[in-house]
Amino acid sequence: MPYIDFSKEIPPNIYKMLIGSVVPRPIAWVSSLSENGIPNLAPFSYFNIASINPPILSFSPLNAPTGHLGESRRKDTLQNVRATGQCVIHIVPHALQDQMNLSAANWSPEVDEFEKTGLARVNSLFVKPQRIESAPIAFECEVDQIVSWGDQPMGGNVVFCRVLMGYFADYLFQDYKINLALLDPVSRLGGPDYSRVKTDVYALPRPEDLI
Ligand SMILES: Cc1cc2nc3c(=O)[nH]c(=O)nc-3n(C[C@H](O)[C@H](O)[C@H](O)COP(=O)(O)O)c2cc1C
Repeated sequence: MPYIDFSKEIPPNIYKMLIGSVVPRPIAWVSSLSENGIPNLAPFSYFNIASINPPILSFSPLNAPTGHLGESRRKDTLQNVRATGQCVIHIVPHALQDQMNLSAANWSPEVDEFEKTGLARVNSLFVKPQRIESAPIAFECEVDQIVSWGDQPMGGNVVFCRVLMGYFADYLFQDYKINLALLDPVSRLGGPDYSRVKTDVYALPRPEDLI
């Protein structure tokens, strides 16, 4: 079946085709606060750089599939960044994958995932949500804009975040460059699979250097 007409497919099939094709995906581990000040942590692999100047990162909380999350179908993170305009985005090192996974459980909005995961937190400098102390990279962000594709199940809501402040652990930062082997980030593939980015790295010269 070499061609698939996406307009004729149901969202769960589109989900399978896209998450198996767009790989590996980096993971944004997002700390946010509810309107009432309840901390929240959750991972999002629809994550990327949207702009360098100004510095903008994007991640996309989907509306829940039908039957999940009850009435609202909105993920806590989306509600929080809409209400407060702030978040902290962390990169996930392999050493913290279990805590990251635990923070993805469908906890109710009153649950503080820092407590559930046992992760220590420290105050951010420019924003109210705290950052994960043991995460080696964290970006303090304010929301620039949110682009939504409606209320349907699995509809996307891309949150564009302006980076105000970057925290980088001393051991992996040199001359603005990040040591990949020491960062040891995990990335998301299709289904339950992940990959460890540092294990199969090679350099490809720019075309200008070859011709
Ligand atoms: C590695 C990983 C990546 C994920 N990426 C996304 C994503 O990009 N978009 C999304 O809507 N949910 C994603 N999820 C699921 C959310 O993390 C999950 O629904 C979580 O409960 C949302 O938390 P919240 O309601 O506190 O915001 C991912 C889960 C994992 C484990």
